[in-house]
Amino acid sequence: MGKPGVFNKALICDPPILKVMQSSGGGAAEHLLESEIGVHWKEEELINPPPKFIAQANMADPAIFERFGEENFPECFREYAELLSWDRYWHTTLDTSNPPFWKWFVGGKLNASYNCIDRHLAKHRNKAAIIWVPEQEEEPDQILTFQELYSRVNEFALVLSEVAGLKKGDRVTFHLPMNPSLPVSMLAAARLGIIHNEVFGGFSAKACAERMEDAKSKILVTCDGYYRNGQWIDKKADADLTVDEASKVGIKVEKVLVWRRYPGKYLSKAEMVAGRDYFVDELLKKMHGKRVYPIPMDSEDPLFLMYTSGSTGRPKGCQHRTGGYLAYAAGTSKYVQDIHPEDVYWCFADIGWITGHSYIVYGPLALGATTVMYEGVPMFPDPGRSWRIAERLGVNIFHTAPTTIRMLRKAAPNEPDKYNYHFKTMTTVGEPIEPEVWRWYYDVVGKGEACITDTWWQTETGGIMCSTLPALQSMKPGSAGSGMPGIYPIIYDENGNEIKKGERRAGNICIRNPWPGIMQTIWGDPERYVRQYYLKYCKNTSSKDWHDWPYFAGDGAVLAPDGYFRILGRVDDVIKVAGHRLGTKELENAALTTKEISEAAAVPLADELRGHVPLIFASLKPGATPSKEIEAEVVSNIAKELGPIAKPRAVYLVPDLPKTRSGKIMRRVLAAISNNEDYGDVTTLANPDVVETIRKTVREHSV
Ligand code: WTA
Repeated sequence: MGKPGVFNKALICDPPILKVMQSSGGGAAEHLLESEIGVHWKEEELINPPPKFIAQANMADPAIFERFGEENFPECFREYAELLSWDRYWHTTLDTSNPPFWKWFVGGKLNASYNCIDRHLAKHRNKAAIIWVPEQEEEPDQILTFQELYSRVNEFALVLSEVAGLKKGDRVTFHLPMNPSLPVSMLAAARLGIIHNEVFGGFSAKACAERMEDAKSKILVTCDGYYRNGQWIDKKADADLTVDEASKVGIKVEKVLVWRRYPGKYLSKAEMVAGRDYFVDELLKKMHGKRVYPIPMDSEDPLFLMYTSGSTGRPKGCQHRTGGYLAYAAGTSKYVQDIHPEDVYWCFADIGWITGHSYIVYGPLALGATTVMYEGVPMFPDPGRSWRIAERLGVNIFHTAPTTIRMLRKAAPNEPDKYNYHFKTMTTVGEPIEPEVWRWYYDVVGKGEACITDTWWQTETGGIMCSTLPALQSMKPGSAGSGMPGIYPIIYDENGNEIKKGERRAGNICIRNPWPGIMQTIWGDPERYVRQYYLKYCKNTSSKDWHDWPYFAGDGAVLAPDGYFRILGRVDDVIKVAGHRLGTKELENAALTTKEISEAAAVPLADELRGHVPLIFASLKPGATPSKEIEAEVVSNIAKELGPIAKPRAVYLVPDLPKTRSGKIMRRVLAAISNNEDYGDVTTLANPDVVETIRKTVREHSV
């Protein structure tokens, strides 16, 4: 492995800065084409961490890169696993006997809940584990010390087993917002080996029901509601819809456990259904003071499912293992985010996504840190809110997505100056960050004192794949940095040829080797797992050598001469909207529930704040005429099917969609028109004339 750019060694720097990107999802077979990428090279200076930071950093020894070098693989990952407490040590670090279903720390036993709670009690019993900040500013924080977390998790684990009848290996679905009930529920499930399946709170009832069906999960844990942008959102009403939707797809939800935001006070308008619905606070009273032993789980026992969007309409349940996942989340939290037990760490993400699982709950708590959770949106009631939280709680590590950074910058670019907080590290995740936005993050939010880590990874990877190690490597605005220790990324062109450092060509970023955080499989669909992530670049499908099985990530990237990766965006049918991951097929299927629509195509439109927003192009069935009502109906159907985050910016009703002669919809052409880019030669299409009509429609109604 080429050694990443260690900052105190001379670096020859010729960094790439890319403006546009995102091949606009033209179908699974059609991946990144170089001609689709606008590459604009620009020098970006390297920035070194402050000596004060290095002096206290968890990882300031450059030997880590040798320790995690290829010659020490896979044993190097013991270093992460040893951050955890094991009930039984493993005998085999990596088992590659059934590629690409890798097994990690085989033979080992541990419990994730024990690792995040019980083992910290002796030293940190009375320390805040979770500080929950309600959106209503006048409402007091809720502070769960490790002891309090221990009690609640034990008691709720008993509710899961004794009331809901769940046992090891069963799946339980949570449709919970950013409320302490969510980490408590996760850790309670983990305590008993119940596989948790949290569905992002902003997803619709229908999306939740589909995931319950796929996971064959019959218990739903929800709440009465929550605050978002000053509004009370009724969640229990959603739960009733989920139960109805689930029954349509053959799942009878047996019990609905309802956490109340204010215990004893029910704020939902939806009625409780006798024999099915239970208030968690009432059940907890019955379990008061009871304790349940954390079951020692096999390293390979699944810890949770996290559904994510891919190139088909059906979301895939990424199945994560207990030992490898937790070790990887803890190791990366410690070395990239530099989390120490005495830090106050705030990851401003949603636990309903992988970032929240790994870097609000499992990583920081495994390290015994204090993790801050905020219920609401960044701008409520004003753009100073985030900085007030940071100041008041003494947050010293901050973590969020470029969308949030862009919004805060646009709303009040000088606001952070007014608050007396000091960050030592700041993380960005989820989308490419523009160098200009990066600089504002560094100069204004970080006050020039904090290291930034731009962390590239995915739901599937469990933890960070590319980033700088903050005390050891220089920062480069807009670049994720090198592969993490023990992660060997590589860029391939469409034909499987490696694109080397400094070639100034984009290609598909892959990871050459297995690592402990990689998902185990797609729940219930191992073939899809192989097809989706491995077949594209597999060198020999009968080989048992991991070298033959590179992991295909689905992102475009460029590798600079100094070994830093710049991530360009998805090369498949996935759109990242404000950091949320949506599948074009899911959007299209939702649009097609509108009875007048015959065909639909979803494409990403570049957006200054949200990265991308979806647009829908649709043609109508014979006899239907375009109208504002149909457009509105498409928007509302998408919100109903998927959730409000998926609402398209515009719906264009057009005479036909551009298609190849074999009938494939050319989303790429639609995206180019929408983004004002050159759509190239369309004369070979089956219906080239429609392209001009569509172009005019888009121009006339530009959004
Ligand atoms: C994108 C989120 C650029 C990428 C953890 C990836 C990024 C997708 C970065 C996964 C980054 C994530 N720079 N792009 N630092 N981090 N992405 O599964 O396209 O919600 O494939 O996981 O987000 O999104 P997911």
